[in-house]
Amino acid sequence: MLTIGRCTLEARVVDITTLDVDAIVNAANTSLLGGGGVDGAIHRAAGPDLLRECEPLGGCATGDAKMTAGHRLKARHVIHAVGPVWHGGERGEPQLLASCYRRSLELARDAHLSSIAFPAISCGIYRFPADDAVRIAVQTIIDTLPKAPSIERVIFACFDEAMYSRYQAGLDGRLQAPPSNPA
Ligand code: AR6
Repeated sequence: MLTIGRCTLEARVVDITTLDVDAIVNAANTSLLGGGGVDGAIHRAAGPDLLRECEPLGGCATGDAKMTAGHRLKARHVIHAVGPVWHGGERGEPQLLASCYRRSLELARDAHLSSIAFPAISCGIYRFPADDAVRIAVQTIIDTLPKAPSIERVIFACFDEAMYSRYQAGLDGRLQAPPSNPA
């Protein structure tokens, strides 16, 4: 657990679809029409009205996010963020991943939400290296929180213990950035 101003950040091993928060973030794709992984789980739990609400949105660019209602979820809203597919790191993947977290928090702030839960965006099917992704997630949220004063609670929903350990390390500042110019 880490406290930044009025906001607490915590990692939990939990199925994100069960959380009673103002918004859960979905690791979506550019179509916003559903898929596998956490996206599939969220659409199954929210029911078919979520897809009906997504269809007219016209998709979403990588690095951006769009918000819908939560429908049958306990969460009041779903913020659909589109992470980058990992291609080796030279195609702007770190910046695009950071943008997902920033845009999600901005949407939550604009809607005056106070609690939000994130999955490990891009860390499954999109193959982003998990340590780097967790470091980017934690740092971007810390950097964005001063501009999102309504946010009081951030949960990192981890699907397994390995991911939970990474977030614990990230929140404790134990995940170091790789050297920028490796020998
Ligand atoms: N709760 C929390 N975390 C979960 C859950 C859950 N219910 N289910 C999976 N995870 P992924 P991506 C974790 O593959 O890499 C979809 O087809 C999972 O273990 O869901 O951004 C979309 O439509 C991993 O750590 O998302 C896109 O096409 C993390 O969530 C594509 O996959 C993200 O894994 C997006 O791929």
